[in-house]
Amino acid sequence: MAVDLPAVPQSTGIDSVMVGLVDRAAHGLWALGRAGMAPPESETSWQAVEQYAIQLIASGDYLTYGSTGEIDVNRVERTGWKVHSQELADAGMIALDAAIRRDVDGVLAAGDNLVTVCESCHEEYRLAPPMEGTVGPAR
Ligand code: HEC
Repeated sequence: MAVDLPAVPQSTGIDSVMVGLVDRAAHGLWALGRAGMAPPESETSWQAVEQYAIQLIASGDYLTYGSTGEIDVNRVERTGWKVHSQELADAGMIALDAAIRRDVDGVLAAGDNLVTVCESCHEEYRLAPPMEGTVGPAR
């Protein structure tokens, strides 16, 4: 059972966490489904898939803690924020479970599920149009 600890002050904003962590981990998983991409063959590449999944789980947890960004206050205080963040952690758990079983189809299905998790939160909370690939200031 989780211990109820006081909130840890955040050191960066949501946009930075998205660009620097969530997006990279997700693309690591999605790369598996890309045409011409061979499924992981070595132990090392399966471990990389596990690590991407773990990064998504930790990101989901992290997003519930809050943010330093002024722009983020109105996001993290809304009730739906925690729900969407939890969905991200859950999607990571599903991917991790499949990766541990070395189940390629399971990881692909987890990747499809992940897309809907990203999109449903973005629909509700992302103000700016997508700027994929750019790293904004920490806010
Ligand atoms: C809990 C809500 C939430 C979830 C889940 C979420 N995002 Fe985000 N994401 C945001 C918000 C809010 C922003 C806008 C941050 C800003 O502009 O300050 C954002 C911004 C981004 C950005 C920055 C550039 C852009 O396009 O605006 C990327 C890239 C991104 N998200 C990728 C993802 C991916 C990939 C996933 C799923 C694996 C995901 N996000 C899941 C809330 C979420």
